Amino acid sequence: MRNLTPTSITAAFADYAKDAPSERTRSLLVSLAGHLHSFVRDNKVTPDEWMAAIDALTRAIRFTDDKRNEYILFSDLLGVSSLVDMINARPSGTPSSVLGPFHIENAPELKNGGDLWQGQVGEPLLVKGQVRDQSGKPAKGTVLAVWQNQGNGLYSQQDPSTGPTNYHARLTVADDGSFAYTTVRPVSYKVPDDGPAGDMLRALGRNAWRPAHLHMIVHAPGHQPLITEFFPEDDTWLDRDAVFGVRAPLVLPFAKVTDRAALPANLAARDKLPMPMWSATLDIVLPA
Ligand code: BEZ
Ligand code: FE
Repeated sequence: MRNLTPTSITAAFADYAKDAPSERTRSLLVSLAGHLHSFVRDNKVTPDEWMAAIDALTRAIRFTDDKRNEYILFSDLLGVSSLVDMINARPSGTPSSVLGPFHIENAPELKNGGDLWQGQVGEPLLVKGQVRDQSGKPAKGTVLAVWQNQGNGLYSQQDPSTGPTNYHARLTVADDGSFAYTTVRPVSYKVPDDGPAGDMLRALGRNAWRPAHLHMIVHAPGHQPLITEFFPEDDTWLDRDAVFGVRAPLVLPFAKVTDRAALPANLAARDKLPMPMWSATLDIVLPA
């Protein structure tokens, strides 16, 4: 195609792609190019500005390895990861949220009632609840993959002083769908902001903070896995989550338990936990 203009280049791109082997891929890429072309035209993007964008993507290579992915962080901080999650979410039940970078497959098994805290730094927290389906039936056989940051704000993968699976576990719920475990109260923390994605935050006058949260993947037999997270309602950063992961039904009261006798009978650390301690109740309803 000759005599391209700033307007006709978009149709030219679509025309070049008309023999694409996959219709869905063609449609996505033509749409992406069309939006990028409009972005450039509408904003009269200069060569220096476009090179700054390319430079950020080039620098992201240096911040990406098997432990950290700066491209996913860009997606998270731009709100795209959350948007993809929300538009694909099932409309009923406990909402989903972002996975984040710290989930590990095959985390150690934790018995129902087990203890992840083990006296480590931070405030102990009892997490208990029940998993049910839409009709209220207990979701027997459900496995909960749980993970969170430590009392010092770091995930175990970021902290060479702790084992790689600290505060990562898989727990099978009881036949009545109930579960309980003790852990540390998660704390709000900053996503890694020393790379080009952090530069973007600074350019926007934004913060890198995420409110404290408990990550969970609910693996219930006969249901798609539910990737979600739960937030304490007293966290300062709930309305400024850097990765846009907060959904109102996932924000919960964290209450103080003062009476040891009120703790579930099956808690492994029941007699050792300092009182008062925190408690959160997660009533999980599987999306249809
Ligand atoms: C997190 O949940 O820990 C997380 C999510 C997105 C980006 C970075 C961290
Ligand atoms: Fe997280």
